[in-house]
Amino acid sequence: MNTKILVFHPNFSESRANVAMVRAAQMMNGIEIIDMYAQYAGKSIDVELETARLLAAERIVLQFPVQWYASPALLKQWLDDVFTSLYYVNYAEGGQRLEGTPLLVAATAGNQIDAYTPTGLNFFALETLLQPLEATAYRCKLPWYPPFLAYRANKLDTGELATLGISYREHLERWRHEISPGLKSN
Ligand SMILES: Cc1cc2nc3c(=O)[nH]c(=O)nc-3n(C[C@H](O)[C@H](O)[C@H](O)COP(=O)(O)O)c2cc1C
Repeated sequence: MNTKILVFHPNFSESRANVAMVRAAQMMNGIEIIDMYAQYAGKSIDVELETARLLAAERIVLQFPVQWYASPALLKQWLDDVFTSLYYVNYAEGGQRLEGTPLLVAATAGNQIDAYTPTGLNFFALETLLQPLEATAYRCKLPWYPPFLAYRANKLDTGELATLGISYREHLERWRHEISPGLKSN
């Protein structure tokens, strides 16, 4: 089983929540973690490499901290570059072969869950704010699964970080159990 977790954290060395999640995921079989900011700091995205990476994956996870109600900028750039190439420039060799690959989003947010309600600070649910990613998955025929969402992520103590890691692992396991990759064309 080959699950690639692409981590988009602009400041991973200062991260606590995403680091806890990565450490927990690393204990599972068949997981590969890629630190995308480490790979692309100040560089343009290598579309060929990213395409090969995606086509070699059985499953894909996009993991990131929420920043201003969206993903960090590199994830958007990566989508613009890689998915435009896959689905508009090179569909037969690219996007068509990616179809059927399950996609999971795992996002951490600083606010508590109550803030993401109509009476809260942010009004919208985090699931709603992440709908551009869900739309992309739908458009690109990548089976979608409810995202893993962590709230108060920058306020967790050591025990809560350990619990976060366990919850993440359980979510990944459920996803792998419940969502099978679709048939891929060659
Ligand atoms: C520039 C910036 C913008 C942020 N915007 C939001 C936001 O819109 N909503 C939110 O809940 N948290 C926001 N946060 C908090 C981060 O989501 C939170 O610190 C992070 O998920 C904690 O994970 P980490 O320990 O892996 O860094 C923001 C943080 C930064 C640095």
